Amino acid sequence: MEVVILPSLDDAGELAAARVARLVGAKPDAVLGLATGSSPLPLYRALRRRVEQGLDLSRVRGFALDEYVGLAREDERSYAATIDREVVRPLGLDPARVRVPDGAAADLPAAAQEYERAIAAAGGIDLQILGIGSVGHVGFNEPGSSLASRTRVKTLTERTREDNARFFGPGEEPPAHCLTQGLGTILDARALVLFAGGEAKAAAVAAAVEGAVSSSCPASIIQLHPAVTVYLDEPAAGRLAHAEYYRYAYEHKPAWQRD
Ligand code: F6R
Repeated sequence: MEVVILPSLDDAGELAAARVARLVGAKPDAVLGLATGSSPLPLYRALRRRVEQGLDLSRVRGFALDEYVGLAREDERSYAATIDREVVRPLGLDPARVRVPDGAAADLPAAAQEYERAIAAAGGIDLQILGIGSVGHVGFNEPGSSLASRTRVKTLTERTREDNARFFGPGEEPPAHCLTQGLGTILDARALVLFAGGEAKAAAVAAAVEGAVSSSCPASIIQLHPAVTVYLDEPAAGRLAHAEYYRYAYEHKPAWQRD
């Protein structure tokens, strides 16, 4: 695992965008795993700048991490609408090549299985973009999630619903359930990049990066993956015991070690 501590997530966005550009240069129809939420926005903004300068992402394929159950795709708070607004349209992706779990499906377990089949049929995810919840979730894999889980319905914790209430209007509440890629699904991606900013994430980041691998902190599964980059700003890195070592390793990174 590489832990990169930077002055701001905008710097992280630039670095990760350069990496996505290299990936797409080598594989124009690369498969990205797409997170919603605030943390990956600097990456999407940096990619947009590159698209304006000529980067072509039109053949890239995408699979969103998760979706609320019960919101129509057209609902602006759905992750389908969010991915369309924040990723597909600004980055010039082909909407037909980007999938979001169908949280409005009549048969949710069948929709979850079909999503797994679609990821497999695409040849798997090349680069999975992740944020981390204050409860330690990745995707919407809340504490207690099986480390081997696949795409399925999960019940959101009260804390996650509070954290995400900002995307809903006054008096409205986020849905109680979601469809999310599982921890096993996320581990199957060929590489993971995780973004976290702000002090509110510091405890979850420390548990994920340096704590025991445990379903109590689902994000700790990143320790089981051979190709993970964790991008943090200073406040999010504030509770890491080995922060100085991570800084030293990044500052002395040999050129040949570039992803
Ligand atoms: C979103 C997702 C979640 C978020 C996490 C952090 O698709 O899967 O795991 O990444 O809740 O959200 P932000 O970045 O808004 O703090």
